[in-house]
Parts: sequence; structure tokens; C-alpha cells
Amino acid sequence: MKVAVLPGDGIGKEVVPVAADALKAVMPDAEYVTVDVGYERFLREGIPMAEEDFRLIRECDCILFGAITTPPKLSYRSIILTLRSELDLYANIRPFRSCAVSPFKVDMVIYRENSEDLYCGMEDVAEDRVLSTRKITRRASERIAQAACGRPGIKKLTIVHKANVLRSCELFRDVCTGVARERGVPYEEMLVDATAYNLVRNPARFDTIVTTNLFGDILSDEAAALIGGLGLSPSANVGDRYALFEPVHGSAPDIAGKGIANPLAAVLSAKMLLDWAGKPGPAEKLEKAVHMTIEDGVLTPDLGGKYGTSDVRASLMRHLERL
Ligand code: IPM
Ligand code: MN
Repeated sequence: MKVAVLPGDGIGKEVVPVAADALKAVMPDAEYVTVDVGYERFLREGIPMAEEDFRLIRECDCILFGAITTPPKLSYRSIILTLRSELDLYANIRPFRSCAVSPFKVDMVIYRENSEDLYCGMEDVAEDRVLSTRKITRRASERIAQAACGRPGIKKLTIVHKANVLRSCELFRDVCTGVARERGVPYEEMLVDATAYNLVRNPARFDTIVTTNLFGDILSDEAAALIGGLGLSPSANVGDRYALFEPVHGSAPDIAGKGIANPLAAVLSAKMLLDWAGKPGPAEKLEKAVHMTIEDGVLTPDLGGKYGTSDVRASLMRHLERL
């Protein structure tokens, strides 16, 4: 197995090496190929990612990704959006599970459609008005609904939309309810504004959410806050053959270079990589090491701790040696 390691920008460069080391500790026989992409590369070389880099990435089985800084003026399309669309990674799977330091009890997964909606890049820009096109298709809605309904052990599917206003959401909702019915998955539907409300009021009521791209982006940051923050929230971008694993957080320029970034979301993303690769044993080891580190109180400031990224790394590696 060949893993492309793309740290990206900002704290991506601090958290991905920790996740890669943890991955190497439990999967030493894989090949790891580091590729430098992102805004910092763009500032240095005038391109965020070269053709040759993309060829290298494609030759790998999957990607461990950090975070990318969005340029202040949108001079090129975000690398992460390019990778998601070029590699057809249509399902963005974001699990939220409470741990010892979480303020709320949550155990749910958001399945975010990852290929269309307002993210499809269809924008008509004039001086005094911009038209952004929202594209929702039957095929993409069906693929994400199938992925969500196929979640192992799914109890209930919540289909999140805004069909009281948007025709595009009507299509999304109808396709999702059709798939859930066909597969015999218990489901409910919920408007996105009500979902934002209910997530805060009673997060334990949710099991599996399926939603469109932008709604999934927003709700997943909200869900992250419920379990203790973005420092604990991993994700998988999955297609039929290829996959990319990344923390939900961004490059966090405000804390980059200070050595205090929380690497646990990146490590949990590596855990998702192992699950995807069919390696449940090593995956479980990574998850255990993360929980033991949290229970030991080796926490970065975002979780109320006083430790740095390298302390968390040391704790993880120590636990992994013994597991
Ligand atoms: C995410 C991020 C990205 C998105 C950005 C960086 C384009 O916010 O993965 O949630 O909006 O999908
Ligand atoms: Mn986001």
C-alpha cells in the first residue's frame, strides 16, 4: 500500500507528521510519499500543485492530508476542492464521538455530499452582482444516500435539507428518502435550520446525518464544537476506488508555528484511513492511543491543556509501543 502524505500549510505541517509517525508505527510495511502542496508552495514557486505532483498522488492508494490556506484573493481553485473533484471523492464522512473531555454526549456521523452544490465552481461574476449556481443531481444525491445508508450499524438516518425554499433540496430529499425506504433504513427529514438548533439542544438524538455539501460543511463545524472542538474531528473523503483523509480543521495561521496545534484530529483521520484500508487491528490501536493520551491529560490548549504538539506525539508513541 502506498500513502501520499500532504501536510499542506500552517498547522497541517505540524499535525500531519505526528499522524504519519503514528501510522508508520502501526503500518510499517506501507510506502509513504510526501508531497508539498498549498499556498506556501504557491508563494514560493507560483503554483500550489504541479502536474507531476498530481501524477505522484494518483499513483498512491490514498492520501493523508493536513490543511490548506485559502489565498486572500482567490487566484486559483482550492487544492482540496480540486483533489475531491479530480479523484471523485463524493462522500465526505465526518464522525463525531464524545471522549473524556467532551462537553456533550454525541455519537453520530455526518455524510456530506462532496462533489456539487455551491461548490461546483459555476459562478458568473460581474462588477455589481455575482451569481453562484447550486447544482444538485439525482446521481450525486443517490451516491451519498447509498453511502450513508451503508454505514455499518446505522440506526437512523436524518435527511437534512431546505426543501421549503429550494427546489434543488426537494430533489435531494426525495432521492434520499427513496434510497432509505428501499434499503429499509429508518429515516426522518429535517430542515437545516432546525438541525442547527437541535444539534445544540439535543445532540444525542442524532445517529447518521446525510446532507448537501455546504450544509454539511457548516453543520460539521457545529458538531465538532459539541465533542470538544475541531482538534478532535477527523474526516474521510471517499470515492469508489480512492480516498483522502483529513482533519476537519483548517491551517489555523493564528497558532501555526507555535508548537501548540492539536494533532489528534489528524491522528484520528489516519485511523479512518486504516479502517478504509481494511486494517481494523492497527486502526483500533491508533484510536486507543488517542483516548489514553486524552485520559492521561496530555492536552493541547484548545482542550484546556498546557502541552504542546510534541508532548502529544510522545504520549501517543509511548502508548503505541505498548499496545
Ligand atoms: C472543509 C473546509 C473546506 C470546505 C474548505 C477549505 C474549502 O472548510 O473541509 O470543511 O469548505 O469543504
Ligand atoms: Mn469546513
